[in-house]
Amino acid sequence: MHPVPSPTAPDVAEMCAELWRSAAGVLDANWTGRHTVPSRTLYPHQWSWDSAFTAIGLAYVNPARAWRDLRSLFEAQWPDGRVPHIVFDPQIPEDAYFPGPRFWNVPAYNGRPARGSTGLVQPPMHALAAWEVYRHASAHGADAVQQARVELGWLYPRLVAQQEFLGDRRDAGGGGLASIVHPWESGLDNSPAWDDALAAVPADLRLLDTYHRRDLDVSDVTHRPTDTDYARYLGLVENYRDGGYSDTALAERHPFVVECPGFNAVLATAELALAQIAGVLGRPSAARRHREHARGITAAISDRLWDPETDFFHALDVRSGRRTPARSVSGLLPLMLPDLDRARADALAEAAGSPRFGLPAPSYDRTGPAFDDRRYWRGPIWVNVNWLLRRGLLVHGRRDDAERLRQALVRLVHRNGHYEYFHPEDGGGLGSPAFGWTAALCLDLLADRSAPAYARSQGVRR
Ligand code: SER
Repeated sequence: MHPVPSPTAPDVAEMCAELWRSAAGVLDANWTGRHTVPSRTLYPHQWSWDSAFTAIGLAYVNPARAWRDLRSLFEAQWPDGRVPHIVFDPQIPEDAYFPGPRFWNVPAYNGRPARGSTGLVQPPMHALAAWEVYRHASAHGADAVQQARVELGWLYPRLVAQQEFLGDRRDAGGGGLASIVHPWESGLDNSPAWDDALAAVPADLRLLDTYHRRDLDVSDVTHRPTDTDYARYLGLVENYRDGGYSDTALAERHPFVVECPGFNAVLATAELALAQIAGVLGRPSAARRHREHARGITAAISDRLWDPETDFFHALDVRSGRRTPARSVSGLLPLMLPDLDRARADALAEAAGSPRFGLPAPSYDRTGPAFDDRRYWRGPIWVNVNWLLRRGLLVHGRRDDAERLRQALVRLVHRNGHYEYFHPEDGGGLGSPAFGWTAALCLDLLADRSAPAYARSQGVRR
């Protein structure tokens, strides 16, 4: 990426002002009056981790709407604690998105109509989002602070239930990590990290004769997952759905059960955010418990997902017991954890800056055999995982790298627009334009250079 001139230069000030206006404009345009959609064309409902990233941006321009988005999502939480990866908007026609509510066939719950949601989850980003919205409330006056406290009180038990679902029911491997049962749950749908585990899942292409891929009507076919991937995705949903979305004996009953380093790094980060939230709510012993949980998850990630041969974190296929050789950007995300030991943190920071990745990081190793510079999570640059990576650099005291990454992301989006993802060489926009989390996280990148309160200081040896 090109170096960004001094932030005091007038052209940079103008660039930042333009980007701020356009980012706020995307969030306004994607607000339905009830929740924010990731994209008007490609994703016309409410998505789980998108809502969390959106809230992080709305914290600056419309905190009331940030809280509304989080409430809208958690109002659809299942009684078992899972927060669905999509909450369907009943005002959007069935055929506007596939697979839509009819395919998921979720039974009625919480008094909601049966077409309310999917039965999968996504990385639990919401505790961190809630903390970030709370942290910025004072900039909006006393009423906003008052509202933030009320909202934290409403969300806290729901966030805890979400963690318990993931930490208990989804610990299919028994080692203290949450498993995902579908690539969509990772958020990194077609990452090469899933290729080995997916090879065991039948790809019934006839499913695509029966169903129409709506995503291909509104985006370039070379930017999206392949039909073979999609056939497997649908088969996995059918299997989980037909088992009543039950998580009992997952490794025996379900063909895809995987421990993802990025998902679990977010799970542990959520515990750290819950510790901060519990502190605000006057619950110090709960805060201590959350910090212990975060340490436990960090230790389990290190034990189970680290490969000393590659000095990197790799996803673990719980059924076969094998770690994938693929290096995905999700293997860099445990850098967000302050209890990660120094040697691993150094190795990750080095990998992030190496020719395999480089900042901003592509979604998959540039030198890897499956690298594809435009196909969704097989190479393109995504702003959300880079935002998480920047947080990791800050947590481990690497302020200069974090600042370089921040500037490169700002420049990338200003040049190319608020795209869903970006070409890893020329930065060209890919996927959907006017994409919610790209816009939302730009607001945060423009406004906040502070490190998390629990960040390590640079150079401190542990
Ligand atoms: N990301 C998936 C999609 O492409 C589903 O969450 O629609």
